[in-house]
Amino acid sequence: MTRPRPRALSGIKPTGSPHLGNYFGMIQPAITLQDSHDAFYFVADYHALTTGRDAKVLRDASREITATFLALGLDPARATFFRQSDVPEVLELTWHLACVTGTGLLMRAHAFKAAEEKGEAGTLPAGTFFYPALMAADILAYDSDVVPVGRDQLQHVEMAQDMGGHFNAAYGNVLRRPEPMVRAEVPTIVGTDGRKMSKSYGNTIDLFATEKNLRKAVMSYKTDSKGLTDPKDPDTCNVFSIYRLVATSEQIETMADKYRNPPPEGFGYGHAKAALAEKLLEHLAPARERYASWMSRPDDLEDVLRQGAAKARPLARAVVERVRAKVGLPKHPST
Ligand code: TRP
Repeated sequence: MTRPRPRALSGIKPTGSPHLGNYFGMIQPAITLQDSHDAFYFVADYHALTTGRDAKVLRDASREITATFLALGLDPARATFFRQSDVPEVLELTWHLACVTGTGLLMRAHAFKAAEEKGEAGTLPAGTFFYPALMAADILAYDSDVVPVGRDQLQHVEMAQDMGGHFNAAYGNVLRRPEPMVRAEVPTIVGTDGRKMSKSYGNTIDLFATEKNLRKAVMSYKTDSKGLTDPKDPDTCNVFSIYRLVATSEQIETMADKYRNPPPEGFGYGHAKAALAEKLLEHLAPARERYASWMSRPDDLEDVLRQGAAKARPLARAVVERVRAKVGLPKHPST
């Protein structure tokens, strides 16, 4: 089946305020795709249950993610934005995939391997073990063509390809094969401690933190201990690696030159961080206002999610019906 516009699909877990890693890795590329693709994005609230156990935190984070996408330019008239749990069909598809997938495949997932290495595989929640199967169902339930994700999610998209392949091998050509889309020009975003930026490390720069907190977080970036007048290498500096994602090419060149050849008065990491904080604030200023406005209108956010689900759910129902027919389950009475 060819389509006028390929379908893009992706999800983001509501486990805290969205940060720069989410922004550059997934949110920004996903929103750009609404121009060329039939875009479907969702708040992965079922997935968040593998780690969070606070209902209020989940509800607040889901609202924040939705407001973030809208503030950054997602246009609900063109793109579909919805809540994963408003389409419970994905849970049924998860089961169908589980029944054709070997446990060995799930045991290769990074999260499982990490638990195994720590000797904690036995107490890892089964939901975490199943995480990749639910994510495969998310992707396959909408006949997705491309899945824009950050590099860290690549393995999960490949597992979705495998699980879809297993289902098709057993039952014929039922599920469409998705392709991951990772932006080659964007490096893994590094957090303030030098590790990959991640909520679980507490090293994030939150997109819509207050100006004061954003500056403070940027100033806390770990660097080496070179002094003001020592030549420095921009290409190995985490501060510079983010600066280059928000500055103009001329500004990037100027900053790189100051790293390599500090002026007599000196150019230290503190200067670089201050410049980065200013750039980030400038880059995000218009979105910041729109974010505050959406956050003050929870009913409007809810409307966007509800309208999104009304568009998304019929697609998943159709795929699940195809699957049910193949495996020998009756047409669901509600369809
Ligand atoms: N696992 C993804 C993350 O943590 C979120 C996610 C859930 C997702 N379902 C998905 C991403 C489907 C892409 C497609 O970021």
